[in-house]
Amino acid sequence: MTRHVVCRVDELPEGGRRIVDLGGRSIGVFRVDGRYYAVRNVCPHMGAPLCLGTIGGTMLPSEPHTYVYGLENRILRCPWHGYEFDLETGRPPFGTFPLRVRTYPVRVEGEELVVEA
Ligand code: FES
Repeated sequence: MTRHVVCRVDELPEGGRRIVDLGGRSIGVFRVDGRYYAVRNVCPHMGAPLCLGTIGGTMLPSEPHTYVYGLENRILRCPWHGYEFDLETGRPPFGTFPLRVRTYPVRVEGEELVVEA
């Protein structure tokens, strides 16, 4: 893994995203609810630019005829076919399918936002 400075911390406001090239890989860096995430910008389903998708929640497992929404701001939804991935783990919520997107460690170092990729 190589250390990459993505930007200054104040250049990625709450709710913001940046899509950057780090060592030849397109990676989306997000700030959501005060946390930072870095996700490979390639959907493992059919290669869409995943990090252009929406961030929100999803339907949770529940009893028949009940609908429970949760995981708000933890789910990245692919813009092409709507597959969902957990921003933290890169896995689909609840193991709904066997695909996973690569995620990377992100940290704040002083005034800089750093991704290990
Ligand atoms: S390419 Fe992402 S869900 Fe199909």
